[in-house]
Amino acid sequence: MNYLITGIAGFVGSSLARAILAKHPDARITGIDNMSFGYRERLADVIDRIEFIEGDLVEIDRLLGRRHFDSIVHCAAIAPLPECQRDSHRALSQNVAICGSIADYALASGSRDIVFFSSGAIYEGTTQFPTREDTSISTSLIYPTTKYIAEQYFEAMCRSHGLNVTAIRLFNLYGPHQDYFRKQPPLIGYLLTSLIRDQPAVLFSSGEQCRDYVYIDDLLELVQLSARQMKDSPTGGRFVAVNAGSGVPVSVNAIIGMLETVSGRQLKIERRPAAQYWDKYSELFDRPITIDRAVIEREVNKHTQAAIEKARDEFGWTAKVDLQDGLAACFQHAQRIISL
Ligand SMILES: NC(=O)c1ccc[n+]([C@@H]2O[C@H](COP(=O)([O-])OP(=O)(O)OC[C@H]3O[C@@H](n4cnc5c(N)ncnc54)[C@H](O)[C@@H]3O)[C@@H](O)[C@H]2O)c1
Repeated sequence: MNYLITGIAGFVGSSLARAILAKHPDARITGIDNMSFGYRERLADVIDRIEFIEGDLVEIDRLLGRRHFDSIVHCAAIAPLPECQRDSHRALSQNVAICGSIADYALASGSRDIVFFSSGAIYEGTTQFPTREDTSISTSLIYPTTKYIAEQYFEAMCRSHGLNVTAIRLFNLYGPHQDYFRKQPPLIGYLLTSLIRDQPAVLFSSGEQCRDYVYIDDLLELVQLSARQMKDSPTGGRFVAVNAGSGVPVSVNAIIGMLETVSGRQLKIERRPAAQYWDKYSELFDRPITIDRAVIEREVNKHTQAAIEKARDEFGWTAKVDLQDGLAACFQHAQRIISL
């Protein structure tokens, strides 16, 4: 198959390129990234086998011309929540308006099938667990709101223009090439950095809140199953939103215990109030309308659990990788790339 991967220097995009080439050495992959959150090193082992274009998707027509792709996997986005929160306009243009550029490009180039990375974060306000895809959505933070609007847009484009789109509502993803270095890395990246550097981890909760974690290899299988199913479909016009989660919520404290087991080290922990979690982003508070700290508290302590039946019924997919095995693989990789 011939893939376009947006955000290819990101965690998902780079891992997907590697996984496709490992399984299908003849696959053709073109990737675009503007390097706003990506790392070139993530592509080191595949760079000679892909076409990598450094550029912004806002210029997708200029960057690509009218090339046809069997599948467009749209990973690019501003993913960190406080980054979205501090600049609504940027968040909407990167996470929503660029979906317009992607769909227009797909139509102009006859590339009918798109895998779009939505997020389990859109279930922000829910009290229904496990959370099904038909649960009513009521967001208050900007990141999940952008993902939900983008889903609605893609669904409309499927109806009106015959695109096929699978929107993957991804829960907490982890894996070797996750981010360890951004301003506020995701939990497992942060805990591993603290363990390896023997620095205290500052945690903003009791650690008893539970989230649904899914390992990168499992996710990549789902992406490829869905891309293949769309390609084999004789017709367009289908929109499917599907959860990508394990269905098993696990507490932060349990994750810490497993990381200590796989690393053979003890993590030092400092605890602070949940409401201070985004204090690194002072711009969220130094303005006339500030973010309500209760919203931050809610986000830190939120519980997540994906309903997994729809992914199983649509694609025959369930997450398989054992959490402790996945964390061990992350630790092995992190030891190689994190300097002391
Ligand atoms: N990682 C998770 O736990 C998680 C969970 C739910 C949803 N998601 C979603 O999955 C997708 C992939 O996540 P990820 O962890 O790989 O994120 P990431 O930040 O590692 O990768 C996104 C990549 O997109 C690039 N990018 C952003 N805007 C761009 C633009 N305008 N033009 C070109 N490149 C651009 C960035 O430089 C980055 O390399 C994102 O859409 C994210 O919102 C991720």
